[in-house]
Amino acid sequence: GVKVVTIGGGSSYTPELVEGLILRHDRLPVSELVLVDVPEGEEKLETVGALARRMVEHAGVPMRVATTLDRRRALEGADFVTTQIRVGRLPARILDERIPLSHGIMGQETNGAGGMFKAFRTIPVILGFVRDIQELCPDAWMVNFSNPSGMIEEAVLTQTDFQRAIGLCNVPVNMRAGIAAIMGVGEDRLELRLQGVNHFVFATDVLVDGRSVMDEAVERYATIADDETLAMNNFAAKPYSPEFIRGIRAIPCPYHDYYFHTAEQLDEFRTGNVRGEVVGRLEETLFATYRDVRLDVKPPELAQRGGARYSDAACDLLASIHSGAGDIQYVDVRNRGCIADLPYDSAVEVACRITADGAEPLATGRLNPRIAGPVHMIKGFERLVVEAAVTGDRDLAVAALAQNPLCPTESTSVAVVDELLRAHGEYLPQF
Ligand code: G6P
Ligand code: MN
Repeated sequence: GVKVVTIGGGSSYTPELVEGLILRHDRLPVSELVLVDVPEGEEKLETVGALARRMVEHAGVPMRVATTLDRRRALEGADFVTTQIRVGRLPARILDERIPLSHGIMGQETNGAGGMFKAFRTIPVILGFVRDIQELCPDAWMVNFSNPSGMIEEAVLTQTDFQRAIGLCNVPVNMRAGIAAIMGVGEDRLELRLQGVNHFVFATDVLVDGRSVMDEAVERYATIADDETLAMNNFAAKPYSPEFIRGIRAIPCPYHDYYFHTAEQLDEFRTGNVRGEVVGRLEETLFATYRDVRLDVKPPELAQRGGARYSDAACDLLASIHSGAGDIQYVDVRNRGCIADLPYDSAVEVACRITADGAEPLATGRLNPRIAGPVHMIKGFERLVVEAAVTGDRDLAVAALAQNPLCPTESTSVAVVDELLRAHGEYLPQF
């Protein structure tokens, strides 16, 4: 059987993953799922582990679920290692959102100053996992959903020689579902070609039964009454002007709202709660539900989280690597010329063919020139963030944020970086 190790197994998202594994048990016969967490997360880990066992038993699937705090032992014999960690947990996310906001700029889980600091906290920890995997289970595939997923993939690709790391996000599967709805076709007939990076990705081609219907897709997307079909659950997307969509001739991912509707998104944060605060309350409800021993399926409340359907992305990927399916999925991998004018070794989020050798990007040529500018800008930002995350170079952190479109002036960058460095000190030993 297949052994899957999930680091950050105490996450409230884990029942989604467990459900995905149960549903695919014939294609991906997981015999052992080991949920790993840190001592501070032990209570959540045991709650989630017990629910996972009830779900598996209810489904009648022969999958053993173990929980442990001993990460290195868990890794022995792993076929797949999935990582879903939040260093500093939700209080750190709230600081990532609140502190930039107090300087008048957007700080979000993966975008702007918030994403940068989440990268600073997370990258060194993930690089440690990679070293352990290379030592203890070098043939395992590492599939990362920790955010910022794209920058973490960039870090693994550029800072290690590990070749079996794939980054993942639920945005592309949700975009595909939304665009299929707009086009009025079943999801399985529709394929996307993507250009860009995680949470800054555009659909630059839409294929139905293998034939491009991009002109039609752009026109329909430009004129739909509201954006809900392509929205995520964790923030309200504002509709785009038809002129803008026709002008770029591409379909932006939901996270582009933070860049193209920055003022409106800032207002949402200013007038209500930041998302970390909302999620904190949602998690309390979720864990209360999880503790109910009668619950033996994924609770519907979990669908209110932004990560809805992430298990489809994750489990389809594992299943297709395991069986060498050769199907098309949308993941974060080394570019290898897929987008001709982005660095060869950089992480991109694109359509890939999934085989037993991993994810092979399908060539897309040069960037659509109408979106090339901002994509280059974000990729440049990401590369500086990764370098700052491993070197602890404060000046580089300031330079990186000052080049991010969500930061208006270099002096704002100095002030925000300074305050976030102080606030997150205990999780940033490299600085
Ligand atoms: C989406 C994104 C994830 C992100 C999540 C946050 O799924 O793709 O990268 O982590 O939303 O959802 P939350 O409910 O925590 O705001
Ligand atoms: Mn994501």
